[in-house]
Amino acid sequence: MPYQFLTVARDGPVEYLTLNRPEARNAFNDEAISELTDWAARAGDHRGELRAVVLSGAGKVFCAGADVTWMSKTIHYSEEENLRDATAMSQMFAALDRLPVPLIGRIQGAALGGGAGLAAVCDIVVAEEHAIFGFTETKLGIIPAVISPFAIAKIGRSAARELFLTGSRFSAARAKEIGLVHAVVPIDSLDRLVGEYVRAILTSGADAVAAAKALIATIWDLSIDAAMPITARAIATRRVSPEGQEGLRAFLEKRLPKWFDDTTSTKDTKDTKDRTDKNATNDKKGG
Ligand code: COA
Repeated sequence: MPYQFLTVARDGPVEYLTLNRPEARNAFNDEAISELTDWAARAGDHRGELRAVVLSGAGKVFCAGADVTWMSKTIHYSEEENLRDATAMSQMFAALDRLPVPLIGRIQGAALGGGAGLAAVCDIVVAEEHAIFGFTETKLGIIPAVISPFAIAKIGRSAARELFLTGSRFSAARAKEIGLVHAVVPIDSLDRLVGEYVRAILTSGADAVAAAKALIATIWDLSIDAAMPITARAIATRRVSPEGQEGLRAFLEKRLPKWFDDTTSTKDTKDTKDRTDKNATNDKKGG
């Protein structure tokens, strides 16, 4: 399916997905929603070759949320038609949330309404220091409904009670404080830090990364008792897997594991590799 509002560029195991409607600040309409949903389904099919995805927005703003002009048509929709429409949007967010590979959000300018929802479905979010965020729907007399499960999973009930109700815009620093964003940097460091996160993922075991992501989704709302058998099984499965065996052997033999993909030669690669090695060591100690 050719995309009108999305561009997709592949660099080896990394896909760069860009919302491409800068004249409307990458606000999403019907077509953009179906394109993102279609892309997510295809990306899921390519797990294995695909190891990380970077989601960004073309132009000066990451994403201004749902297209208000498109939404204004819904004034004339029946409740049933609105339900169909909202379900499609909900399916898009769910598909991105469940993507079986890490999704890294690169945020500049603003992430408002559904744009903040897109940040919420990313595993890792890097924002430039002047970016603004907001669950601004109540300002339009609507609510942040379909994004709420993803947003609340990230920011918690307390911040949701403040920010969903006020619809206030907030800074990247606040977004980091509440867990919507993981790192805030000057705009000229945005790509470097995104690159560091990508490399940190590529130097980890691909199946382990996917299993870790799936585990978080499975256990985050379980009781400890319910989680225990699942987590014990998860680590047992990983330890006997070829990747788990290779990772442990490589550590003991003081060599890099076979999957180690560190083909870039920029200066910060060595720093990341050093840090990744230390993290890998700590992780193995943690088991
Ligand atoms: N839906 C449709 N069009 C949008 C839009 C949205 N959510 N957000 C911005 N646009 C359009 C504007 O109408 C404008 O179109 P025009 O050039 O035809 O007049 C264009 O994008 C540029 O918008 P502008 O406000 O001039 O850009 P900016 O860079 O100064 O500010 C934002 C960017 C995102 C901060 C600002 O556009 C904004 O606050 N948008 C509203 C976001 C919102 O409330 N989203 C929640 C939806 S539920």
